[in-house]
Amino acid sequence: MCIRDRSEVEVMADAGIRDILLTSEVAGPGAFDRLVAIAARLPDFKAVVDNAWAVDQIASAARVRRVVVKLLIEIDVLTGRSGVVDSTAALALADLIRATDGVELVGLHGYAGHAQVQPEAVRRERNDPAMALLADVVETLREHGHEIPVLTGGGTGTASMDAQRGLLTELQAGSFLLMDVAYRNAGAPFENALFCRSTIISRPTPERAVCDAGQKTLTADSGPAEVIGRPGVRYLRGSDEHGSLVVEPVALEDDLAVGDVIQLIPSHVCTTINLHDVLVGVRDGRVEVVWPVATRGHVW
Ligand SMILES: Cc1ncc(COP(=O)(O)O)c(C=O)c1O
Repeated sequence: MCIRDRSEVEVMADAGIRDILLTSEVAGPGAFDRLVAIAARLPDFKAVVDNAWAVDQIASAARVRRVVVKLLIEIDVLTGRSGVVDSTAALALADLIRATDGVELVGLHGYAGHAQVQPEAVRRERNDPAMALLADVVETLREHGHEIPVLTGGGTGTASMDAQRGLLTELQAGSFLLMDVAYRNAGAPFENALFCRSTIISRPTPERAVCDAGQKTLTADSGPAEVIGRPGVRYLRGSDEHGSLVVEPVALEDDLAVGDVIQLIPSHVCTTINLHDVLVGVRDGRVEVVWPVATRGHVW
């Protein structure tokens, strides 16, 4: 299970999940001790690092607690985010980890985020050099005697091409489970399973309707949500609490009325779920389960 924040890891650990990779670097007061406390609790826990200072900090805290923390070096596979940028820097960090008590190198983390939510040709164009860079780094490290059992990366957009390539030992795809508009438009071959119910609260003109799902309900970082089952009714934009809908000429005969309930597909699953306390599981029109979003707001 790949998780971004320590507080999310703690929730997952409380729920009985054992094999967890923390995919973001940490820093700040108490950060390393908290990370090592998780490692002391979960023997399969792993964390990413991309700098020598973090390795030293984790190792010091680990020696105090008498544990060995499993580390993966994060490689910036041309995403332009965190991670060491080439095999020279990766080798220096790998050598440091090998020479330091309290930490153990178990793999490389190379998540090509820039290749994910894109049309297929762009996904391939961006993922090929990203994975070539990762392959180059792992080859260098192995030439210098580092065993690299874990090579982890990939997302919903590149999962099938990564599986065909066979370089990664773990795929980190997550959005495929519920999907969203952005991934659907990018051609990801999975069904949408996440919907938001919203009520029409105003119908000021034939061309305009307003629903009660604005940006407190649906994030807009990946574009507008999509109205389903109402051809010609388009979600234009969300303000704080309101969603403005355009009723296209083709749908002017639509009987969309105040009080009607519409269904929307969120444009970005990850950020939208973090706005909600629960997910309601529906099968054949009946509510079957209500899941609390236990990690909601756990961003520290
Ligand atoms: C490090 C990492 N791995 C995996 C994922 C999941 O990717 P996707 O949502 O494309 O399946 C993300 C998403 O942000 C991520 O940041």
